Amino acid sequence: MNLTELENSCRDCKRCELHRYKTNTVFGEGPADAKLMFVGEAPGEQEDLSGIPFVGRAGKLFDKYLFAVDIDRSDVYIANMLKCRPPKNRDPLPGEQNVCIGWLREQVKIIRPRLIVCLGRISAMRMIKPDIMVTREHGVWFTKGAFEMCAVYHPSLLLRDPRKREDMLMDMKSVKAKLDEVTASENE
Ligand code: URA
Repeated sequence: MNLTELENSCRDCKRCELHRYKTNTVFGEGPADAKLMFVGEAPGEQEDLSGIPFVGRAGKLFDKYLFAVDIDRSDVYIANMLKCRPPKNRDPLPGEQNVCIGWLREQVKIIRPRLIVCLGRISAMRMIKPDIMVTREHGVWFTKGAFEMCAVYHPSLLLRDPRKREDMLMDMKSVKAKLDEVTASENE
């Protein structure tokens, strides 16, 4: 199955109740051969309305970091743990995460990125390790099978707590350095 076929099946998903409230499925955005994948939490209002991840306030802040470290948004794949917006942006329930992560796993299998960066605790706990402490372990790289993974602060947290923005910039610089390494090794 290719990414478009997977996206089409995901649009019809009724594995949990969230499909009842959505305007659009927010499957993900980016090239199917991206080397770098970001994984957020769940769509918010603007994402639900547009069908595109990270386009609201948090997304605009995230774009600034991509720009600051010279990563082109159109070169990376951006997805979320959940593909449908939880009502009033509440935290995703464990049951919703359990069923929705299947779509993310399929996306990862098809894209086979070299680097996966978790935006915030919810995706980091699922993808890196259940006891991850993003405050202490942001920017730390973990090798998991074929992937190198790290967690960074969620952009929504940076909107609420601007003191963490300096750390985010450092972490994003490390993401860019890793991406350059991976690109150089593939061109050898
Ligand atoms: N927050 C997320 O985690 N994902 C989005 O797509 C938007 C906001």
